Amino acid sequence: MTVTVHDLAAFKARGEKFVMLTAYDALTARVLDEAGVPALLVGDTLGMVVLGHETTLPVGMEEMLVFTGAVARGARNAMVVGDLPFGSYQASVADAVRNGARLLKAGAHAVKLEGGARVLDAVRAMVAAGIPVMGHLGLTPQSVHAFGGFKVQGRGDQGDRLVEDANALADAGCFSLVLEAIPAPLAKRVTEALPIPTIGIGAGPDCDGQVLVTPDLLGLTPGAGPRFVKRYADLRSIITEAAQSFAKDVAEGHYPAPEHTYR
Ligand code: KIV
Repeated sequence: MTVTVHDLAAFKARGEKFVMLTAYDALTARVLDEAGVPALLVGDTLGMVVLGHETTLPVGMEEMLVFTGAVARGARNAMVVGDLPFGSYQASVADAVRNGARLLKAGAHAVKLEGGARVLDAVRAMVAAGIPVMGHLGLTPQSVHAFGGFKVQGRGDQGDRLVEDANALADAGCFSLVLEAIPAPLAKRVTEALPIPTIGIGAGPDCDGQVLVTPDLLGLTPGAGPRFVKRYADLRSIITEAAQSFAKDVAEGHYPAPEHTYR
């Protein structure tokens, strides 16, 4: 049975922490789903970790539709959340509703968009159209150039504005809210103030849930990454070793062996 917006609300009501992970393809979605991950985010981070861009800005709707469809076909029980990419909801409310609907048609159960006061009309219109919406505040990567880089947000006076935005998004009908790269005390304040679950990434331990970018979690992305990344596996080493073992076997004539060969 698919995890729904009500299940995420119930996690918060029970005080039970939950996770969300990004997924971009059907195979990984199936593995994460079978591992019991309740929510899979087809994040526009796919622009960086799958497509090799420097930021999420180049990602368009056509790409989001392809990857969202793949994840939806791989998932069985998890809620699939499709990201609205940069440019797909900022110009008009009509764009937001049209593109939100396209993500649902591709298989998503909900959509995510970035921003506070400036996206409230879009949120209200999508919710009225039956599209569940997840908000995203703090270091919203689509605003990277406005922020002057990938920098922690919400420090000092910005904190009160973020709390206002969070409350406004909940009032507008968002069913949950991602908080990215903000001080932990601010995330705690937002989480305690809101009736909807918060999902943190670089927002400390007090959010209702936590999300990570799966290639970071698996140790596939190069370098140390941001402070909040914890690597739970070292797939870079495992893949390197497997590729080198394959090449060695071929060079030494051990592969293909008789059992890999048709007669
Ligand atoms: O696009 C994404 O993967 C995200 C997560 C980092 C929350 O927005």
